[in-house]
Amino acid sequence: MGRVTAQSTEPRPLTEPGTVLHPAEAPDAPWWRDAVIYQVYPRSWADSDGDGIGDLPGITARLPYLRDLGVDAVWLSPFYVSPMNDAGYDVADYRDIDPRFGTLEDADRMLAAAHDLGLKVLVDLVPNHTSSEHAWFRAALAAGPGSPERDRYVFRDGRGPHGEEPPNNWPSVFGGKGWSRVTEADGSPGQWYLHIFDVTQPDLNWHNPEVRAELESVLRFWCDRGVDGFRVDVAHGLVKAEGLPDWHGAVGLYDEVVTEEGPEADGDTSVLDHNAGGHAPMWDQDGVHEIYRSWRRVLDSYGRPDRILCAEAWVKPEERLARYVRPDEMHQAFNFEFLEAPWDGAALAAVVESSLRSNDAVGAPTTWVLSNHDVVRHASRLGLDQHRPRPNGIAADDPQPDAELGLRRARAATALMLALPGGAYVYQGEELGLPEHTTMPDEVRQDPTYHHTKGEVTGRDGCRVPMPWVRDAPSLGFGPGDHPWLPQPEAYAGLAVDQQDGVAGSTLELYRTLLRLRRSLGLGRGSFAWDGRTGGDVVAFRSAPAEDGGEVLVVTNTGAAPVALPAGEVLVASGPLGADGTLPADTTVWLRPTAG
Ligand code: NOJ
Ligand code: MG
Repeated sequence: MGRVTAQSTEPRPLTEPGTVLHPAEAPDAPWWRDAVIYQVYPRSWADSDGDGIGDLPGITARLPYLRDLGVDAVWLSPFYVSPMNDAGYDVADYRDIDPRFGTLEDADRMLAAAHDLGLKVLVDLVPNHTSSEHAWFRAALAAGPGSPERDRYVFRDGRGPHGEEPPNNWPSVFGGKGWSRVTEADGSPGQWYLHIFDVTQPDLNWHNPEVRAELESVLRFWCDRGVDGFRVDVAHGLVKAEGLPDWHGAVGLYDEVVTEEGPEADGDTSVLDHNAGGHAPMWDQDGVHEIYRSWRRVLDSYGRPDRILCAEAWVKPEERLARYVRPDEMHQAFNFEFLEAPWDGAALAAVVESSLRSNDAVGAPTTWVLSNHDVVRHASRLGLDQHRPRPNGIAADDPQPDAELGLRRARAATALMLALPGGAYVYQGEELGLPEHTTMPDEVRQDPTYHHTKGEVTGRDGCRVPMPWVRDAPSLGFGPGDHPWLPQPEAYAGLAVDQQDGVAGSTLELYRTLLRLRRSLGLGRGSFAWDGRTGGDVVAFRSAPAEDGGEVLVVTNTGAAPVALPAGEVLVASGPLGADGTLPADTTVWLRPTAG
C-alpha cells in the first residue's frame, strides 16, 4: 500500500451556531448507536473468594449496581486463560476462563444474570497476539523454521552475518525491542519472532488463512454463548506493512513514547504521534479492513438485536479512524482524540466537531470515552498541568494532580460527554470520582511497561486499583480478603459506594442523574447544533432529542470567569451554579431554555 503523510491538525472553523451539524437518529435506530457501556476490569471489580483478585462470581453478584447506575451494557476486559504477563491481554486459550476468574459455567451465569437485568455484555477479543503459552506458539517453537506452525506468527531470520540482529528496528510498545530470538530444537540460536507488546505476546500473522479462520471461530464460540459484542484489542495493528520496513517514528499507544534506545535516549519524551514523519508500518494498514468486513458478516449472521464490534484503534486523524466504522465494518471505535484533548474549550469544541463530521460521513455514531484501564483516570488527568504531554502513570515523585480541581473538571467533562450524541464508555470507578493511585509503592507494580523500561515509565497500575464498595470492610468491600492484588490508596475509603449512595451531590448520584436524564431526554439520539456561546473557554450546544422534540442546551465552562446562562429550567449541573445563576469555572450544565 502507499504511504500516507500525516495530515495537518489545524482545527477547521466550527459549523455556524444554529446549523444542525449532526441530525437526530431515526426512532428505530439499533441499541448500540447511543448505548452507554460500563467497562469492568475483572480483576479489580469484585472478588468473591477473597484471593485478592476480582472474579466472575463477584461480577455477577454486583450486576444490580450497574442496572441501578443506568448503563445499557457492560464490557469485560479479558478473563481468558492467561499467564497474566499483561493482565490477561496475553491469551493462552480463547475458549476458556482463567481459574483465577472462574469457570465457563460462571461466565454463562454472569451472562444470564446480566441479560435478566436488561444489560448487554461485551467481551474483549485479543486478535493481534496470543500468549507465548498458547498451544499454537508452543507448536511453532517446536516445529522449526519454514513450518506451517511458524507461519501463524511473524517469524523471520535475523539480520547480520549470523542472524544476530533483529529483522528490523521496531521497538515494543512496552519498551525494549519488538523482536526476540528463539533457540531452535537443536540448541542453536534461531529465528526471531515479532512482539509489538510484551515478549510473551507474539504477534499473529494475519496473512495466514488459519489465523483468520480461528479468530472467526472464536467469535462464534462467544456469540453462541450469548455475548452481545466484542471490544477488539489493538484493532489497528493486525496487518503490518509489506516487507516489515524499518521505522523511525513513535510506536507508543498510551502516551510518552518509548524508543528502541529507551525513553531518555535523546533526553526527551515526545507525545504520541503514530504518523509522525509518515505512516507507521505496524499500525492502521489498509489490509485490516477486510478482516473486519468478514467479522461483521459473522456477527450479522446472528440476526437482531445486533451484536457489535468496538475498535480499540489509536488512529489519527478522525477521518482515518472513521474507516473502521464504515457500514460493513465495526459498529463503534473509541474516540481517543476526545480522551486526549486538554481541558480547554477550543480544543474540546474542535474534537467534537471533527469527530461528529468524520463519523457522520460514514453513517456511524461517535463513541465517547474519557477513561479506561490504559490511561490516567480523568479525575486525576484533568488535575494536571494541561500544557504538558499526557503521562503514562503518575509516580510519587512526579508532579501530583490537584485532586479537587481534577474531580471538578472530571464531573464537568463527564456531563459534557453524556450529553453528546452517540455512544459512551464509562470506566469502572469513574462514577465514584476515583483518582489515579499516584503513590503506589514500586514493588507492587505489575504493568510490563514499568518493568521493561526499568521504571522510567510508571505505567498503568494506578488506574487498575480494586474498587471501593464499603468504607468499613476488608479491602473496602472489594472482597472478603485483606490483600487486594494492588493496594487501594487512602482516598478510596471516603469515595466508597456506600459513602456516596443516596448522598445528594455525590459523584455517584451525579452519574445516576446524568444517565437517567440522558435516557429520558434521548440525548444520545438527539441532533447537535453549536450554540452561539461557544468560543474561547466555553463549549455550548443544543440538542433536539427525537423523544419529545424539546431542546436542551448544554454549556461547559473550562475557564475561570463565570458564564451567563439564559433563563430556563436547570436539568442537572456537574457542580453548584453561581448565586447569580451563572455557570462557574469547570462546570457543565444541562438546561431547558425558556421559549421565546
Ligand atoms: C490494549 C489493551 O487495552 C492494553 O491493556 C494491552 O496492554 C494492549 N492492548 C496489548 O494487548
Ligand atoms: Mg477472587
